[in-house]
Amino acid sequence: MAPVTEVASAPLSEALTQPQVRRDLEGRTALVTGGSRGIGRGIALKLAERGARVAITYVTHQDDAQRTVDAVKRHDTIGTATRVDVADHRQIERAIDGVVEEFGSVDIFVSNARTEIPTFYAAPFSITAEQWNTTLDTQPTAFFHAVRRVAEVMPDNGRIVALTYGTGSRTGSWQPWVAMGAAKAATESLVRYFAVGLARRGITVNAVSPGFVDDSVVKSLPEVAQKMISDWASSGWTPMGRLGTPADIGNVVALLCSEEARWITGQTIYADGGASIVMAELPPALQQG
Ligand SMILES: NC(=O)c1ccc[n+]([C@@H]2O[C@H](COP(=O)([O-])OP(=O)(O)OC[C@H]3O[C@@H](n4cnc5c(N)ncnc54)[C@H](OP(=O)(O)O)[C@@H]3O)[C@@H](O)[C@H]2O)c1
Repeated sequence: MAPVTEVASAPLSEALTQPQVRRDLEGRTALVTGGSRGIGRGIALKLAERGARVAITYVTHQDDAQRTVDAVKRHDTIGTATRVDVADHRQIERAIDGVVEEFGSVDIFVSNARTEIPTFYAAPFSITAEQWNTTLDTQPTAFFHAVRRVAEVMPDNGRIVALTYGTGSRTGSWQPWVAMGAAKAATESLVRYFAVGLARRGITVNAVSPGFVDDSVVKSLPEVAQKMISDWASSGWTPMGRLGTPADIGNVVALLCSEEARWITGQTIYADGGASIVMAELPPALQQG
């Protein structure tokens, strides 16, 4: 695909001051689960900025989904939204079929949706069977079924990306993360199996692991907790000194969807301003020297 810029129709002064964005995903169709809010919206908008047609899913917040679709369309491309509960894998399979019917293919699939915190947030010895099952059903099981369906319809050189949280999968200290940590670890394992299975078709399968991101689920926490998390990042536990943004994560997903990323597959990419490489044993001030 030839790189194209999006500045042609903008006034000259604007065109001279705005960074040029490559429309390298023009002609491609992306399906982003949980695109109504937070990181999913950031991903949908970055893919749209690069020219992709973007279908998103939501489960309860139809107004938010419509706002994402409106914002996608402002990037001079097509956007649609469908209601899907990823707890029922038949719904995501139907959504994939619907996108193929409407646009001809799914070239990019981003598995991003995650249920609300109370549905899974409980420590190992207090978590209910329902919370455990919901977490597994909506993460690795949903991803497993979605990729198997998407693989049937995705043309060669497609892109599959799963949103995980690699740090929470690796550690055990954040006790109420037990179900989500296990679920994301299983998803990252599936990423590697699917990556090998689809490699001959040039389809890449990767995980993106964001650090803590502003304007996402973090906003649903009590204000005092939000401030503690933000202060923690700026105090040095995130070397770049801030929380991530949905646009930061959208940029990484768009990068993985580019032609130039064709040799990266089966990887978990930590997009976290360096948070995952800080040592836990030493206070950040001592690590700075
Ligand atoms: N936020 C972070 O700091 C962070 C850090 C690391 C990893 N992540 C990962 O990034 C992804 C997005 O997180 P986020 O914080 O941006 O999420 P969020 O703001 O809470 O948004 C969740 C999205 O998932 C949808 N959703 C919820 N339950 C669903 C269900 N049962 N079926 C289908 N869709 C459902 C929501 O739709 P409605 O709007 O209709 O409710 C919404 O679009 C997740 O996979 C998460 O684990 C996030």
